[in-house]
Amino acid sequence: MSAERIVPATPAALRAAARTLLDGRLVAFPTETVYGLGANADDATAVARIFAAKQRPADHPVIVHLADVSQLTAWAREVPAGATALANAFWPGPLTLILPRAARASDALTGGQDTVGLRVPSHPVARALLGEFAALGGRGIAAPSANRFGHVSPTTARHVADDLGDGVDTILDGGECAVGIESTIVAFVAGVPVLLRPGGVAAGDLARVLGVEPQQAAADSPRASGTLASHYAPRTPALLVAADALRAEIAQLTDRDERLAVLARTVAMPMEFEGVWHAAAHDPRGYAHGLYAALRALDAANADAILIEDVPDEPAWLAVRDRLARATHGVDDDRD
Ligand code: TXA
Ligand code: MG
Repeated sequence: MSAERIVPATPAALRAAARTLLDGRLVAFPTETVYGLGANADDATAVARIFAAKQRPADHPVIVHLADVSQLTAWAREVPAGATALANAFWPGPLTLILPRAARASDALTGGQDTVGLRVPSHPVARALLGEFAALGGRGIAAPSANRFGHVSPTTARHVADDLGDGVDTILDGGECAVGIESTIVAFVAGVPVLLRPGGVAAGDLARVLGVEPQQAAADSPRASGTLASHYAPRTPALLVAADALRAEIAQLTDRDERLAVLARTVAMPMEFEGVWHAAAHDPRGYAHGLYAALRALDAANADAILIEDVPDEPAWLAVRDRLARATHGVDDDRD
């Protein structure tokens, strides 16, 4: 088993982990969004080990995590004014910028594209690890979410160990991730901001800083595999149900002897309910914080179906709605 790979993020463990990365091995670490599976971004062989551990296709690009904004120009050859404004407003924090790559960003990182994804995370453990790594001469830590390809992203060290086991050398434990869903991804295409993935930074806050609404991703936007329909899916078939239809749906499926797992928000558990019931937070931040742990727990119930109470169709719920749509899509095509 892999439990012994989980280590508390003490100063000594952080120094050892930075050394492990420079040695070409993998370290999983907490960020404020989800746990990442890290490798030295300058070491193409180490980056290849990420893909092997996740069982992820090699042409999917990974985000490079930076200690601070001063490392940006090592990786991006052009930084449009809008990108600088977003970096200044939201870094360190749950925002990823997709920018034209500099020469040091290898095809292993970019999936052969001419752009690279960059982010400065705010989690104290991620920052301390990036600081130790920079002190040893490292320039960036490549890290996708630390889940096996196709699974829900991890928000605890235990989730990482459950998914990746022996595929990772060290798992730094930093508790539960505060945000709980992945970063917002903004690409700059010919200088124009495009929202590739809603996430920890609200779309309205991007618009406030940019002075314009970011464009929605179009068919010819830079490819972000995390934007494909079947991402973040549990293995149990999952279904979104309107709040006012949830009780009737439960009754109907129970009559058909289906075992149910339910992610409710405003609806109370019926007295006679016999499956697994999870009551989510009412507000979008609290809901996002607990979402992936809830999906993992409901998936582990081995029910015939997971019913998810739909959430409000309001801007504050955009990123959560995006993840719920993917979790309930039911197509097994392409997942990060
Ligand atoms: O919150 C997060 O972003 C987490 C933490 C660990 O930082 N990371 C994360 O990475 O979610 P990942 O690889 O699971 O999802 C990143 C998404 C992928 O869908 C990838 O295709 C896209 O970002 N991406 C990365 N670099 C890109 C690029 N150059 N062009 C387009 N999409 C890119
Ligand atoms: Mg992912």
